[in-house]
Amino acid sequence: MKIFLDTANIEKIKEAASWGILDGVTTNPTLVSKEGKDFEQVVREILEVIKGPVSLEVVSTQWKAMVEEAKKLRTYGENVVIKIPMTEDGLKATKALSSEGIPVNVTLIFSPAQALLAAKAGAKYLSPFIGRLDDISSYGMRLVEDILTIVDNYGFNTEVIVASVRHPMHVLEAALLGAHIATVPYEVLKKLIKHPLTDIGLERFLKDWEKMKK
Ligand code: G3P
Repeated sequence: MKIFLDTANIEKIKEAASWGILDGVTTNPTLVSKEGKDFEQVVREILEVIKGPVSLEVVSTQWKAMVEEAKKLRTYGENVVIKIPMTEDGLKATKALSSEGIPVNVTLIFSPAQALLAAKAGAKYLSPFIGRLDDISSYGMRLVEDILTIVDNYGFNTEVIVASVRHPMHVLEAALLGAHIATVPYEVLKKLIKHPLTDIGLERFLKDWEKMKK
C-alpha cells in the first residue's frame, strides 16, 4: 500500500520523507490555510521535496473554471494531481481533464455510487473520506470495501486513496482490505511507528550491552 502524507506542512513532509516510506502528499484548502503562508510558496516547497503525486485542490465550483484552475496548478509540476470535488461540475471537469491526460483525484466521496461515477469520468484517484463517515455513526471502512469491489469488478484504471484517516487502525484496515493508498496525517503516521514493546526491548538490549562492557 502506498502511503501519502495528508498535510501542507513542509517540516512534517520533510520529516516523513526522511523515513523512506512516503509515496506522495495530499492537501486541501483547509490544510493549506492552516500554514498561514502564500499558496504558491507552500506548493513550491512541497514539490521540492516530493517527487511522487502531490494533490492540490481547486476552489472553483463551475467546471470550466475548475479546468482553468487545474491547468494553472499543473504548471507547478508534472507530479501535480488535481483534486476535484464530487459534484456534477466536478464530474464534467474530471472528464475534461482526464481526457487530456491530467490526473484527477476526486475528493469528498461518501458513497460507492459517487465513486463509480468518478471512476467512469476518468478519475485516476478516488478519495473516500472514512473518518467523517465514522463521525456520523456510519462505517467508513465499509465504503472503502465497496469501492474496491467496484473498481475490481470493472477493472477501472483508478486507485483508491483512503482519506480522512484519524487513527492507526484506519491505516491497518485499509491495508488489510487491499486499498491502493492511505493518506495519513503526520501524527497518525508517528503513532504507526511506535510500539511500547519495541521501546522496552531496545532499552533492555542497551542495558545488557552496557553491563557486558563493565
Ligand atoms: O484526506 C482528507 C482529509 O484531509 C480530511 O480529513 O480529518 O478533515 O476529515 P478530516
